[in-house]
Amino acid sequence: MARESALYGPTQSRFARCLERREARRPDPVARSLRRRALEGLRGQVLEIGCGDGRSFEHYPASVTRVRGVEPDPIARSAAVERARVAPVPIEIVDGDAGALPAETASVDAVVSMGVLCSVEDPARALAELRRVLVPGGELRFWEHVRSANRAFRLVQRAGDALFWTRSLGGCRTTRDTEGAIRAAGFRFERLERGFHSSSLLTVTSAPYVLGVARLAP
Ligand SMILES: C[S@@+](CC[C@H](N)C(=O)[O-])C[C@H]1O[C@@H](n2cnc3c(N)ncnc32)[C@H](O)[C@@H]1O
Repeated sequence: MARESALYGPTQSRFARCLERREARRPDPVARSLRRRALEGLRGQVLEIGCGDGRSFEHYPASVTRVRGVEPDPIARSAAVERARVAPVPIEIVDGDAGALPAETASVDAVVSMGVLCSVEDPARALAELRRVLVPGGELRFWEHVRSANRAFRLVQRAGDALFWTRSLGGCRTTRDTEGAIRAAGFRFERLERGFHSSSLLTVTSAPYVLGVARLAP
């Protein structure tokens, strides 16, 4: 798949480059702790969609036996391969799309999505794929930015998306009801935290997030 996102590819927008440089200069400790919490207690075989440059890899607990990271962007994938080399658990990186996952049906114990359901074209289709590859009773770990519960803030999100956000950041939308989409896909929330965090004012419209564990019925 040759598609490149505006987040990592050579066609990356100035805004995306600015966010990346900022993150490289000053890694966000709160984001690191949210990633760690999203992954804690995980075990078995895991598939992570849109793993990006692999910044979640360092947080996988030793109880995870293997991770398959699926990432369509070639530049992010190369960075992920480098991070996978020094990860605490075995990780393989493959090209692929969340809407048609390169994995057998009922083949993994858990799936992970961090900041991806905001970017995929069709979240319902991606969630159906996540269901397909999970074993019965398998779990979805997620940390996703979502539309705000506050009406005025939602207007700001919508305006930001329309003016620059979505076009600058590979189709990302800050106004998605990902909590509702996860529920509608047939997952049951086992842990659900709703919070607000952004690493800078530049990304404040993506601050409302949901983090947690959702499970398929056994
Ligand atoms: C905001 S980045 C998040 C990266 C990583 N999950 C993280 O937490 O740092 C969104 C990622 O989703 C990926 N992505 C976009 N559309 C996708 C799709 N249809 N299938 C899989 N990944 C996709 C992008 O290439 C990018 O790496």
